[in-house]
Amino acid sequence: MTAWTQQMTGRFLAFEGPDGSGKSTQLARFLVWARAQGLPVIEVREPGGTAVGERIRDVLLDPENTDLTVRSEMLLYMASRAQLVESIIEPALQAGSLVVADRFVASTCAYQGTAGGIAMHDILRVAEVATGGRWPDLSIIFDVDEQTAAGRLSPLLDRMEQKGAAFHRRVREGYHLLAEQRPHDMLLIDATVDEETVFERLLEALQQRLVG
Ligand code: TMP
Repeated sequence: MTAWTQQMTGRFLAFEGPDGSGKSTQLARFLVWARAQGLPVIEVREPGGTAVGERIRDVLLDPENTDLTVRSEMLLYMASRAQLVESIIEPALQAGSLVVADRFVASTCAYQGTAGGIAMHDILRVAEVATGGRWPDLSIIFDVDEQTAAGRLSPLLDRMEQKGAAFHRRVREGYHLLAEQRPHDMLLIDATVDEETVFERLLEALQQRLVG
């Protein structure tokens, strides 16, 4: 393990971005890379990642739940998160693992906040309770324009993906706002380019931000 990769033990990273951003592809590549470096890595996904959380995920993504209000939706994402933090993320960090989350609080800020209309301070207050104050060291936002994102989505859209172009445009705006407002723990990466280049940028950015 080189000096800078060693510094990643006990860190918490969140991979973020609009639907179709390619974040999950980058996350899968990152896990292969991190394990090849000999890092102890724990991967979690949101919503979900625990037995209870996966049941909450089913409710949240079921296209039949058309009457779910945005506040109820926000609280369900947070309930899944509370379960995940206490039962998996916190113990893994205490044991010195690198924890990599496929989405975390920034998703709620972008989707239920900027796009859904819930005030940011309300989301942050609930998040503080749900996470017990545990925030990622860095949230990496994979940024893509609408056309690129649409081309990367599978034709079978879940309840969130079905919310339409205007909603997803606001989600992207939400991520841009977060990156502007929280430069210390949010990082925006241009993910419109090819997979290989995005991954190289990700590793460079991690080295600079976590070590440099
Ligand atoms: P995924 O497709 O990346 O697994 O994410 C599931 C969907 O849930 C995606 O459309 C984003 C959405 N989401 C929110 O709206 N708020 C949240 O807090 C989280 C974690 C996800």
